[in-house]
Formats: sequence, C-alpha cells, structure tokens
Amino acid sequence: MKAHIVVLPGDGIGPEVTGEAVRVLAAVSTVFGHEFTFQEHLFGGASIDAHGVPLTEQTLAACKSSSAVLLGAVGGPRWDASPVDIRPERGLLALRKELGLFANLRPVKVHPALVGASPLKEHLLRDVDLLVVRELTGGLYFGMPRFTREEGGTVRSVDTLEYTKAEIERVVELACKLAAQRKRKVTSVDKANVLETSRLWRKTATEVAARHPGVAIEHMLVDTAAMRLIASPAWFDVVVTENMFGDILTDEASVLAGSMGMLPSASLGEGGPGVYEPIHGSAPDIAGRGVANPLGTILSAALLLRYSLNAETEAAAVERAVHATITAGLRTPDLGGQQTTRQVGNRVLEELKSGV
Ligand code: IPM
Ligand code: MG
Repeated sequence: MKAHIVVLPGDGIGPEVTGEAVRVLAAVSTVFGHEFTFQEHLFGGASIDAHGVPLTEQTLAACKSSSAVLLGAVGGPRWDASPVDIRPERGLLALRKELGLFANLRPVKVHPALVGASPLKEHLLRDVDLLVVRELTGGLYFGMPRFTREEGGTVRSVDTLEYTKAEIERVVELACKLAAQRKRKVTSVDKANVLETSRLWRKTATEVAARHPGVAIEHMLVDTAAMRLIASPAWFDVVVTENMFGDILTDEASVLAGSMGMLPSASLGEGGPGVYEPIHGSAPDIAGRGVANPLGTILSAALLLRYSLNAETEAAAVERAVHATITAGLRTPDLGGQQTTRQVGNRVLEELKSGV
C-alpha cells in the first residue's frame, strides 16, 4: 500500500513525540511491505515565527491532499500574548474545521501495569475501556458572534454556543456505529436541564439511537458524567458529547490511564484525510529535554493506520508493541520512570519487529 503522511510536529514536545511515531510508522512500512512517505510542515507557534500565521495555505493544501495527518502539539508561553486570531491554537481549530473533522475519538484504556500510576483506587480502574467521541467542529469553540467590546463603560465578552440538528446527528450516528462494535452502550452527555442546545442534543441523540436497535442509549448531565468518570469509570462504553464538554472530560479521563501522555486521538470527517494527535499539549516545561512520553503519539499513529489506511493488522501490531513496552517496565518520568523519549521509542520498535 502507498500512503503519503503529512507530519505537523508543532511546538514544545511536539517534534520529540512525532519523531518517535514517524519512526514507528516507517518501521511498519518496511515490516509490512508498504510505501509510506512523510512530509513535515511547520504548524502552530513554529509557523507563526516563520510565516506570521499558525496555518499557512501551503500547509493546509498539503494536509488536504495527504492520506492522513500526524500532529504533535501546539502552543506555549512565547505566543500567549499574541492576538487571539494568530495564536497557535487557532491553527489547530482552523485545520479541524477546514478538513471537516467533526468527530474526535479518544479511547481510554488502563494498562494493568500502570494502575499504580493513577491516583484512583485500583478496583475502580479494573475493566476501564471507554471511548469518548467528542464533537469537534461546532459548539462554543466556533459559534458566532464572538467578541470582547467596551460598551457604555462596561467591557463585555461574548462566546456563542450553537448546534444544528445535522451536526448532532452525524456525530451521534458515528458514536452508535462505533458502539455497535464494542459493548453496545452510548452515554450521551449534555446539560439539558439548562441549555437549549443540550435539549436539541438530547432529543436528536434519542432519535438517532432509535435507528440502532442493538445499541442502548442513556443520557447523562455533564456534571454527573464528570463525577462518574472518576467514581465508576468502568460504567462507560462510548461517550458522545459536544466539543467543550468533550475537551474537559477527556483531560479528566486521562487520569485513569496514569498520564495525559498515554492518550491518543483520531479526528475524522466524512472521508478525506483524518488528523491523529495525542490529547496532551506542548508541555513547554519539559520541551527539548528528551523526556516526553511518546506513547500517546505512537498510539495515535496506530489509529491512523486503522482509520485512514484501513490497516487493522498493522494498527494492532503497534498497539501490542506499546503494550509490551509498558509491560517490560519502560516508563518516562510522567509515569514515574526514568527512561527517555528515545529509549521508549526504541523499545516499541524492537517489540514491533519481534512481534510480527
Ligand atoms: C485538545 C486541546 C485543544 C482543544 C486546544 C489546544 C485548542 O486542548 O485537543 O484537547 O481544546 O481542542
Ligand atoms: Mg484539550
């Protein structure tokens, strides 16, 4: 198989973690006899420094014509004072929107050897295997109007939370399809006791789920979901929710896995290239020291193989190699270990090569 992968390392630890994931993908390419090519582009703060904007037309065009995009992370204190429209994060939002990536899949599993790395009690973590499907191109992140203005001596800020029925339908539809291949339960998370958009969300989710008789749907208020996610995480199978709720709940869910550094994500649209990135940020405090956990990005590369290249065997091989690496005791400092990014990456490569 031929595939052209655009790599957007971004800022902070981004280049370190994507570096390892690219090595893993290159090894997959060799071991399984594929032809993967890689092309790197500046993105986020690095692109602001070079070109004045976080996402250039050229980079966007390259992403659009790729098989898939592998992304590191964006942002850092250097750009915190930038006007909001040229912040690194704005590049990420523009990329998601331009590629039509309405669904962000964030699987959360707990490796048995990492149970001790989570502050939660061991018995709560048993059987945790959940998938958050976060709506990614609507809601508070994109609603208009959005402004801060001085009016009559008062400074006023407005963000807008808006959803169309069609936007809710397509993401809940995907969540139901994914649930049908898992434990067949969807928890739709909203704030229907307060928000108009959530009432539409709940009604629409109920209608969509009715078209999937094999899948059970339940509705949960977001505050309850936040509590239940740490009080009884094994309760959940597939969680589907609006953009900002999903952002917040998945940082919380990463605590289950022992570290933010462990969690991958896949952003998908209707066909077209997907974007694969770890859920963590650019971690400027440890950037450049070679100690970032590369596993979230390597697991994102596995999702790239699965969802964009339809290479399930290869995806599973990468996931097995990551599993074996953790079982063997290799840990970066976020997991309480002392290994470097490169050492962990090397071990994943060895496990991959010996496992197939
Ligand atoms: C994430 C991040 C982004 C988001 C930021 C960097 C804009 O937190 O991917 O979860 O909020 O979507
Ligand atoms: Mg986030």
